Amino acid sequence: MDPTPSAKRTATVGNPTRRRPRWRGRGSVTTAGRGGLPGRTVLDHATRVVSTVVQQVWPGEVVSIGPQLPSVTNYVTAVTVREGWFVAKYSILGTSLLSILRGACGPWDRVEAAQRDYVQQPTAQLARERSQLRALAAHARRTEGSLRVPAVIAYQDGVLISTASSGSSLAGELVRGRIAPDRLLTDVIAIATALHRDQFLARELSGSPALATPHTSIAATFARKFTGVEASCYLDSLGAGWLGGSARTQLATSFRVLREILHPLLRRLPAPVVIYGDLKPEHVLLDTCGRQTWIDPGLQRGDPAAELAKLLSRVALLLITSRPSLARMDAVGAAMDLLVTSFVARHPRPDGITALRRLLVLLLADWANYLASGLSVPPDVTLPLPPMLLEATGQAQSLLRLAGEAAASLTIDPARAWGTVLAGTLDLATGQPG
Ligand SMILES: Nc1ncnc2c1ncn2[C@@H]1O[C@H](COP(=O)(O)OP(=O)(O)OP(=O)(O)O)[C@@H](O)[C@H]1O
Ligand SMILES: [Mg+2]
Repeated sequence: MDPTPSAKRTATVGNPTRRRPRWRGRGSVTTAGRGGLPGRTVLDHATRVVSTVVQQVWPGEVVSIGPQLPSVTNYVTAVTVREGWFVAKYSILGTSLLSILRGACGPWDRVEAAQRDYVQQPTAQLARERSQLRALAAHARRTEGSLRVPAVIAYQDGVLISTASSGSSLAGELVRGRIAPDRLLTDVIAIATALHRDQFLARELSGSPALATPHTSIAATFARKFTGVEASCYLDSLGAGWLGGSARTQLATSFRVLREILHPLLRRLPAPVVIYGDLKPEHVLLDTCGRQTWIDPGLQRGDPAAELAKLLSRVALLLITSRPSLARMDAVGAAMDLLVTSFVARHPRPDGITALRRLLVLLLADWANYLASGLSVPPDVTLPLPPMLLEATGQAQSLLRLAGEAAASLTIDPARAWGTVLAGTLDLATGQPG
């Protein structure tokens, strides 16, 4: 029995593009200032709870916990036991770990007390994720389709343990893989479309509303961040500790301009089907035969445009932040364009243009949500954050300029807006100023 993960095995959990994660060598977390919670206390708590559950799941086995995997939201860690690799996930109050560390839910003793009740709730975030993974596994068995999801090993005391998939992620594969990007992305959309059409999942979700992930759609997140009573304060606080006063004022203005255009268009979007909800390149893992396993579902009723918008938004950010070879970049850009063209073609005229507008509103709103999350990270928190978040945040000004330019032609000419997004993405990815 070898309880210690070898360097090689540790690196291949999840995504090989993270072979040298930037947080390695730093402490996992530092103390957040100004009302924030001591990061060590929070992470020690999470590690302790995960260890206890793991000992109960594999009694008498030597188990090793770590490394912590990149997440903005939860404590996620690899777990190694003799029989292999697993992933353990632990959510505190269903709120992002960053917010907890910022002190948004109050002092630690209050959070800890609330957490004891929270983990017993059947609607706790990870209880829901367990049910969704089971529903998706049932869907995969029934349809004999190509979607796979991790198997649930246990859910106990708020800790979800599932099987790990080694291999690359769609993100790594798009940037430097061997499979053609158009094939990769077309496969993803084919799997998503089969999900949208599945009556079994639709029945499961309407029969058990608690199964759906609430308030996480692109539109709901945008409304929460940018239009609530605290939106003004929130916008003015973005970038604090990272950027000087005038750069922050400029950023807040760019967000406000985007809000004026996007908010009216985001209201009352249709929700005709069940969507996966959080379909992004890091959530699609590929084995050596190219078979896909999807992780971290956020099943909800939604617009198929929202599914595609999230995927395109994150693939664009991936290109901008990882700067693949020119040939690969062109191929990914062409694959994105193909997806959009096919999406528009699936809608009879003149609905294609309306659908394209919906798609782009959602894409730009997702950019705004993503950048705002990055800009609200306190500089002294060194959680293992996804490298793409940090890189994209570093380019927030150029990205917001591009988003504003695309948004300006959304109402009159969505096709032109898409051209702006695609060309601007490739420009930023090749290092041309936005
Ligand atoms: N079953 C798995 N197999 C391999 N790697 C995994 C698995 N589950 C999670 N990971 C890795 O851990 C990372 C974080 O997991 P996950 O997305 O489930 O957490 P999260 O808290 O929802 O993160 P975020 O909010 O950033 O999406 C993933 O991006 C992936 O790299
Ligand atoms: Mg995730």
